[in-house]
Amino acid sequence: MTSDPTGRFAGRRIYLTGAASGIGLATARLLAGEGAALALVDVNEAGLRAAAKETGGHPFVVELRDGEAIDRSVQAAGEALGGLDGVVNCAGVALSAGVDVMDPADWDRVLAINLTAPYRVCRAALPLLKAEKKASIVNVSSGAALVPSNGGASAYAASKGGLISFGKMLAAETAPNIRVNTICPGVVDTPMTAFALRGDPAVATAFLGAYAMRRAAEPVELAEAIAFLLSDQASFITGITLSADGGRSFH
Ligand SMILES: NC(=O)c1ccc[n+]([C@@H]2O[C@H](COP(=O)([O-])OP(=O)(O)OC[C@H]3O[C@@H](n4cnc5c(N)ncnc54)[C@H](O)[C@@H]3O)[C@@H](O)[C@H]2O)c1
Repeated sequence: MTSDPTGRFAGRRIYLTGAASGIGLATARLLAGEGAALALVDVNEAGLRAAAKETGGHPFVVELRDGEAIDRSVQAAGEALGGLDGVVNCAGVALSAGVDVMDPADWDRVLAINLTAPYRVCRAALPLLKAEKKASIVNVSSGAALVPSNGGASAYAASKGGLISFGKMLAAETAPNIRVNTICPGVVDTPMTAFALRGDPAVATAFLGAYAMRRAAEPVELAEAIAFLLSDQASFITGITLSADGGRSFH
């Protein structure tokens, strides 16, 4: 792909999780196209290699439940890119199971990937980000953290709600040099939501009925919102939670 050396992210070095699929992949494409150098992180090795080939990013195959593997990847990313001034925590997993029937191991897995991993990534990246005059972190939460859906997503909502609170506290801790913001997507057409959008049309219509815009987002629409918060265009914005949800939460 063509990368614009004079683009909005020229000279920027960004560590991005979840880069093999969906919103993370769209974000990798957008950032690379606008000149960023990328460390692409995911557990899906084949998807990650394809993303790296397309965007010119450095691939790091990481299981994000492994905190020490995160530490090693952040270190290696900093060495490969000559520092870091951006982080996007986009990897995540969904789970649908009522509280009474959910296996506690599933609760732990969702919290580990959606909440503890972003903390570990930020913890490992802070020394590198602090070495820069300005740096930016964007965490990808969910509208499920703001408005309950049909139920069955308690672990997911708790992990994403925790991520919002974590981001606010981190923004307070790391200002003024590092900005930290959170995105809450509504439904986006990715493998994560295929069960709702690509199955029974009646289910999809009911699902989308909760959205004023009555449609799912394309991944690139979320990538644009992430890129905005990551960029200097958002230079006076920190600690916020931005809904990009087609009118679901009116947060
Ligand atoms: N799609 C939606 O409607 C929607 C809505 C709200 C929030 N989100 C959030 O957006 C983010 C991206 O979701 P998406 O829709 O692009 O999903 P996706 O399933 O297309 O992509 C998620 C990526 O995370 C990676 N990942 C998952 N567990 C991992 C682990 N343990 N270690 C390393 N990588 C791991 C997957 O391999 C995958 O590439 C997630 O945090 C999700 O919760 C999505």
